[in-house]
Amino acid sequence: MANQTSRASVCGGKLGYHDLALDWYTYRLGHRLFNGSYIWSWSYSFKTSPYPGQDSLQRVVIFGDMGKAEADGSNEYNNFQPGSLNTTYQLIKDLNNIDLVIHIGDICYANGYISQWDQFTSQIEPIASVVPYMIGSGNHERDWPGTGSFYGNKDSGGECGVLAETMFYVPAENRAKFWYSTDYGMFRFCIADTEHDWRPGTEQYKFIEHCLSSVDRQKQPWLIFLAHRVLGYSSGAYYGLEGSFEEPMGRESLQELWQKYKVDIAFYGHVHNYERTCPIYQNTCLRKASHHYSGPFAATTHVVVGGGGASLATFSSIRTHWSYFQDFDFGFVKLTAFNHSSLLFEYKKSSDGRVYDYFTISRDYRDILACTVDSCSRTTLAT
Ligand SMILES: [Fe+2]
Repeated sequence: MANQTSRASVCGGKLGYHDLALDWYTYRLGHRLFNGSYIWSWSYSFKTSPYPGQDSLQRVVIFGDMGKAEADGSNEYNNFQPGSLNTTYQLIKDLNNIDLVIHIGDICYANGYISQWDQFTSQIEPIASVVPYMIGSGNHERDWPGTGSFYGNKDSGGECGVLAETMFYVPAENRAKFWYSTDYGMFRFCIADTEHDWRPGTEQYKFIEHCLSSVDRQKQPWLIFLAHRVLGYSSGAYYGLEGSFEEPMGRESLQELWQKYKVDIAFYGHVHNYERTCPIYQNTCLRKASHHYSGPFAATTHVVVGGGGASLATFSSIRTHWSYFQDFDFGFVKLTAFNHSSLLFEYKKSSDGRVYDYFTISRDYRDILACTVDSCSRTTLAT
């Protein structure tokens, strides 16, 4: 049966029709048996994505490090993602109000056991069958010594990214290098790959700058950066012990880009908790953290949302001046773009689906043209 299932995903036909009035697709998957007959799946529907710049309600869920679990506790190999079922259930419950899901790395923690991918894809099937389920690459998808990963540890169990890049589609030029850009209506998402080098001079750095610089903010005002490891700011205990409060060489390498191109929010996983900073640049809050931002961009807000399901990570006992909200619990973020000038950010707990942190950004396009610290090139009247 397992063999039939895998054949179905490879060989099965995809039936679809396009209702121009509604922009809905209906499809089902089929598997041709040896006797020539077919077995068909249920019918599913999904909505076409809004075109870049389209002004419509757009709702995006973001989290990292979810994994999978069994409700009866029978998960034998990898039983350390206790929050994953709650996160999955909350998303399914709210599915009518979600347009896109982005899971930023540490997808299922299969670590080389392919059956665990089957278990994970089965768990998220109610979500991924009806809304785009986009992924980023994490250490548990990619890292293995001597295979080109930036870190030489064994966190992927030998998968080396092959499972992730095969099971999920990402619009990357080279899917073995898991960085890509994707547009969804008024959003531009620049998704980095922290398991490959991102420092200045690298291929990935060039991609990040191109992704951030090439967006027309009048049409796509909401510019979001995502990566698995924390390239910005985290009060996670491990980063606190290192004294860096980030992945070493993270923000030193990229903060000028975030500032110059006015990235609204940067999201990370890897640290299994939730944390939000003030709008910050070079370790300095350029604006007080708030629940409501308006007017010109000041600096990027950094968010750790790695509490998708894997065992929680404690915070450092050192209180950093930039950390505004911390939650040692499972949860996820939902972004709602109402239009070109109004964005709502919500952090929800996976246990009850309720909002525990939020902020709004109200901004006119002209605000984005204003210069702030290092966001415009320096000029001089001297000759
Ligand atoms: Fe990770």
